Amino acid sequence: MKIIHMSDLHLSADGALVWKEDCRRRFLTAIRQIKMMRDIDAIIVSGDVSNDGSLDSYYFADRIFAELNIPTYWCAGNHDNLNVMFTTFRPKFCYLSNQALIGGWRLYLVNSVAKDNDKPNSNRSKGIVTMNIRNELDGQLSKNPEPSIIVLHHPPLEIGGWQDNKILKERETFRELLCHHKNVKLVLSGHAHTFSVKKNENILYSTASSTGFAFSTELPKYEIKQGQEGFS
Ligand SMILES: [Fe+2]
Repeated sequence: MKIIHMSDLHLSADGALVWKEDCRRRFLTAIRQIKMMRDIDAIIVSGDVSNDGSLDSYYFADRIFAELNIPTYWCAGNHDNLNVMFTTFRPKFCYLSNQALIGGWRLYLVNSVAKDNDKPNSNRSKGIVTMNIRNELDGQLSKNPEPSIIVLHHPPLEIGGWQDNKILKERETFRELLCHHKNVKLVLSGHAHTFSVKKNENILYSTASSTGFAFSTELPKYEIKQGQEGFS
């Protein structure tokens, strides 16, 4: 099976630059590259589809992904507006469901986005998977025997750079849950805007870079690493 893992598209309604980077143009470049690839079974986008949470940005992404005609699954990131994304937006092509089956593998799309209590219109940068969501996932992983891929925006394993201050809270608890299920093989995340891959307790953890702008574990916080943007 061949999967493309994309993350952190950071699209805006009017194509406005984000951190002086043209995320819309770079997203379209990624799409052109994917058009040249063969036999892709699915595309997984691990959050931050939008930078401004606008309805237009979601419709734009949905319309562009439809051109590829490859099943495409999204989860939310901290820059996404969960209300717009899951309530107002009606995707014509992409899937926003919690679960899917692809080629005998079960995909779980887990929400790790937490509201910022001080700023009602935005989300916290750090992520959390609530106890309710953890319990639901635990039950589903026990019930469904297929090999499984877990997708969530915030990495549940350290990647070794400044980004580790911004990843999933209570991540040891989350990883412990995954370890109890031998069917969990792969965990895909974004948020760090850096490619990484690590094995922990027989589970492969990978973060995709951002299609819009990349960071590096080697560079100071929020310094952009040109040329490292892309997808896995
Ligand atoms: Fe992001």
